[in-house]
Amino acid sequence: MIIAPSLLAANYGRLAAEARRAGCAGADWLHVDIMDGHFVPNLSFAPELVRALRPLTRLPLDVHLMCSRPEILLEPFAKAGANYISIHVELGEKAGSLLWKTKSLGAKAGLVINPPTAIANVLPFLKQIDLLLIMTVNPGFGGQAFIEESLPKIQQVAAWRRERNLDFRIEVDGGINFTTAAECARAGADTFVSGTTLFGSRNMGAAIRKLRRAVHVRPARP
Ligand code: DX5
Ligand code: ZN
Repeated sequence: MIIAPSLLAANYGRLAAEARRAGCAGADWLHVDIMDGHFVPNLSFAPELVRALRPLTRLPLDVHLMCSRPEILLEPFAKAGANYISIHVELGEKAGSLLWKTKSLGAKAGLVINPPTAIANVLPFLKQIDLLLIMTVNPGFGGQAFIEESLPKIQQVAAWRRERNLDFRIEVDGGINFTTAAECARAGADTFVSGTTLFGSRNMGAAIRKLRRAVHVRPARP
């Protein structure tokens, strides 16, 4: 199980210390949300932030691009030191070549799906990806409520992964707390992004340990 605190919920006045706090607390990855003010109605970080963080933490950097033109961002983020770079399936046809390009740049390739998008849209890409991120809120903002309708999507993807003998990670992002994380784990998720619950806690180490206990459940196999 991978726990990835989302920097979107960190204190922006002290990002370096916040990244170290996540590392010391026992996080596995650091999730970095990139928003362009167009694909989603909010703005966040640039490749320069990833470049600045890279020497400060040993945690793999999990970059989530909520951007309309990821083609201009893949190389800057890969060169800045991103380990995983994920693009949205809602971009349509160009998703396949973006995934391929991500891998050619030496990063792991992730595909993200929004709550209203039918899960069948990811099928053509399953063999190409290292990670499938199932959004459990509509992207753009932290602190939203988990959308329960995401759970059958996780189950479906876990079944496809098993049937096809694939080994991409199944990540969830949005409204992940101790309860919703356990529900997602039961549905088959193995990678948990959490912003408000982890960065908002006084003792992130204790919060991560509690989250790990919550997701330590056997997935229900249909
Ligand atoms: C939402 C982002 C999330 C966000 C999650 O658009 O993709 O990564 O930080 O925040 P919480 O855990 O607060 O819902
Ligand atoms: Zn995210």
